[in-house]
Amino acid sequence: MGAVVEAPVRPRHRVLLVSGSLRRASTNTAVLRTVAGLAVAPELAAAVLYDGLAALPHFNLDDEVDPLPVAVRDLRRAIRDADALLFSTPEYAGALPGSFKNLLDWTIGDDHPRSLYRKPVAWINASPRGAALAHDSLRAVLAYAHAEMVEQACVHVPVTSAMVGDDGLIDDPSVRDRLAAALGALVGGVATGPGG
Ligand code: FNR
Repeated sequence: MGAVVEAPVRPRHRVLLVSGSLRRASTNTAVLRTVAGLAVAPELAAAVLYDGLAALPHFNLDDEVDPLPVAVRDLRRAIRDADALLFSTPEYAGALPGSFKNLLDWTIGDDHPRSLYRKPVAWINASPRGAALAHDSLRAVLAYAHAEMVEQACVHVPVTSAMVGDDGLIDDPSVRDRLAAALGALVGGVATGPGG
């Protein structure tokens, strides 16, 4: 009987998608909803949209005790379950939206080994206006969290409301291609380890 040669089992990765906007018709959330439907690589197990932003309490160090507020526990669990995170956020008044910064503040004190610390992250900048200040700030906060920025996956893909269909998705092929390339680069960054 011949020896059975088993194909190597490739690790499969989960990506958590986090929008910085609470708006129902958000272009940033539409970008990530679109990303969630893209199949880019066999290594991608799933890209899942986080939907708990509105439920998070205001960050207060006094509340960072056991048991954590349920929404904070759920956020940290979603981050631990993910192998990488992909953000898309608007800029408000030259900075990150307060509710999104609040989410990021809740990640800082998590000392679990699968917290944001050393986790591959990237962002899609969907702003037609550039939103450079928000993205500089996001980069600074993620560096403070010691997340691993996967530079090849950080892209500027301008999206307007008119590009979002009634189904909440973007069907422009060039946008979808660029989003797929970014997601593929992020998943590749998980596979190759720190530094992407
Ligand atoms: C904005 N917008 C904005 N845009 C920008 O490039 N720089 C800025 O400083 C601001 N400031 C700002 C403040 C406030 C209060 C609002 C409501 C909007 C525009 C904003 O980023 C844009 O509308 C995004 O498309 C909103 O993102 P979502 O909700 O579509 O994802």
